[in-house]
Amino acid sequence: MLIKACTPSSVLLVCLGNICRSPTAEEIFRQQAAIAGLSLKVDSAGTGDWHIGHAPDERSQRHAKSHGYNISKLVARQVSADDFRQFDLILAMDSQNLADLQAIKDSLTDPVDTLAKLALFSEEDPTYGGDDVPDPYHGDAEDFEEVIKRIESSAQAWIESWKTC
Ligand code: 4NP
Repeated sequence: MLIKACTPSSVLLVCLGNICRSPTAEEIFRQQAAIAGLSLKVDSAGTGDWHIGHAPDERSQRHAKSHGYNISKLVARQVSADDFRQFDLILAMDSQNLADLQAIKDSLTDPVDTLAKLALFSEEDPTYGGDDVPDPYHGDAEDFEEVIKRIESSAQAWIESWKTC
């Protein structure tokens, strides 16, 4: 594919715990970018600190694996101010994550054009645009499946958007 100037070279996916949604999004984004021929650094993090150092939730691992995504080796970490300097684009799984990330960004004194662009993960998605990727942590199998469906759709939409920007 033609690589346009607006295509980021690095993307960070962020949710609350970094054990359900964002590690799943990390692997899905990585696979879709590879299929599209993009050289993209992809990582994930959580706004919270409860699960630092933990593997993804075992339910997320199982559902991801059943769709061909192996997330078993990923390790949770917390988002940091430095992530805004290291990544081109930071994508929030839900509107609370987005607000928390915006607060971190607003606290930084760096020139704003040197910091990561921030957006909702669903922003470019014609099907789910503006929606949260709902937190499945207290949910059931259907909720974990819904997470994968929405992430596949919204990741693809970002990659498509970079073909025409
Ligand atoms: P995630 O899900 O943000 O998709 O990783 C959650 C994981 C853990 C918790 C909340 C959400 N928790 O409260 O521990």
